[in-house]
Amino acid sequence: MPVSIVVGLQWGDEGKGKMVDHLAAKAVAVARFSGGANAGHSVEAEGKRFALHLLPCGLVRRDVIGMIGSACVMDPVTILEEIKSLERNGISVEGRLKISSKINLTHPGYRWIEKQSEADLANGKIGTTGRGIGPTYERKFRRNAIRLEDVFNMDTFKTLVDFHTDEAVNSLNLDSAEVEMLHSDVEKFIEATREVAHYSDDVSLSIARFLAEDGLVIAEGAQGSLLDPDHGSYPYVTCGQCISGAACTSLGFGPASVTDVIGILKAYTTRVGAGPFPTELDNEIGEKIRQAGHEFGTTTGRPRRCGWFDGVLAGYTARINGCSSVTLTLLDVLSGFDELKICTGYQGGKFTTGRSMDELVPVYETLSGWTEDIRGETEWENLPEAAREYVLAVEKMVGVPVTSVSTGPGRDDVIWR
Ligand code: GTP
Ligand code: IMP
Ligand code: MG
Repeated sequence: MPVSIVVGLQWGDEGKGKMVDHLAAKAVAVARFSGGANAGHSVEAEGKRFALHLLPCGLVRRDVIGMIGSACVMDPVTILEEIKSLERNGISVEGRLKISSKINLTHPGYRWIEKQSEADLANGKIGTTGRGIGPTYERKFRRNAIRLEDVFNMDTFKTLVDFHTDEAVNSLNLDSAEVEMLHSDVEKFIEATREVAHYSDDVSLSIARFLAEDGLVIAEGAQGSLLDPDHGSYPYVTCGQCISGAACTSLGFGPASVTDVIGILKAYTTRVGAGPFPTELDNEIGEKIRQAGHEFGTTTGRPRRCGWFDGVLAGYTARINGCSSVTLTLLDVLSGFDELKICTGYQGGKFTTGRSMDELVPVYETLSGWTEDIRGETEWENLPEAAREYVLAVEKMVGVPVTSVSTGPGRDDVIWR
């Protein structure tokens, strides 16, 4: 009964999409378990580049079933756009997309509410993706959110939709043109929900059936552990739980089904949005990494903040996820640096992911760089010695075997050790 969980161990954008697509070659199903269309997963395959947001990356492989768990949140309009975008690229999801009937929906008013709340926070803003993610989770826990299954009872559905439309109109200072725009978006929301209801499913039951037949199910995470609302850099976090434990809750299987927890780590660190980042390089080295790694957000296009690899944080997130192995991605981006640094501790032995995280001062170990271009390399022995030393230094800090290294965005650009 194998379930492999794939999780991000930093602040997201570690290359989970690429690795899930690589691993999906052996899977019957890939099930996304957290977040919504705030995520941007890039997959390069068949000579094309796919940008997925809520659809599981496994769908890029035509024989894989894609599922979306109940702890994700969904904007029905944007998921239909995603489905159409895949179709335009010659990939149909018909008959192989299953969305939990219990998933909570993002009403169009939530984006307006989120915009207002980010503006109200003034200097303390989180820098959200603006996709209505926070307000959707807030309403889920307030116990009056709209679930996909509500559409099967039109009276209930319409009452809920009207409630949330009125709440947005009454709590925001909208002018008449904006109210009209919101009403028009609500009509589109209703239509899209009806259309997407076609994919509604009991995801837990479907997974149980795959597992009974011994098929590999990959539970695909989104964001990264440092954006987790419990264990991340609170309050600069997202609202969906993004560590491995959340896979069981969202997809409805028990922990005993899990055979592997694969942590994905970038060879350096990036972060989008506000919040502490101890190893940030707000200088020309950070800019060099940003350009070499094309570090601009897949969802918002924002430049990602870049910094050195933080071994302390990586060790911490490997622990809270119970990682059995780690994949180190984007190693090729570090070619051409004279020297590289890894954070091995913080001054005074301090550690926190809470409100005083921005007081942490990193202590670094310096390693030699390498000049060779290693992009697309698939053999460990062919890596320059300094690159191998770098991977081993990461492994030592993380305390979990680095069993694979990604050397490019392509599906097969992977070294297995
Ligand atoms: P979130 O769920 O949004 O956190 O994203 P993600 O973890 O799926 O990562 P995302 O696709 O946003 O960003 C990773 C970027 O690096 C993408 O542009 C990938 O195509 C690219 N990429 C992945 N692995 C490698 C690699 O080993 N080398 C290089 N050069 N690019 C890579
Ligand atoms: P939200 O998820 O839109 O509420 O944004 C909360 C924080 O999480 C912001 O700092 C975002 O930039 C960050 N975030 C959300 N999703 C992703 C992601 O997929 N990759 C990187 N950062 C993300
Ligand atoms: Mg991303």
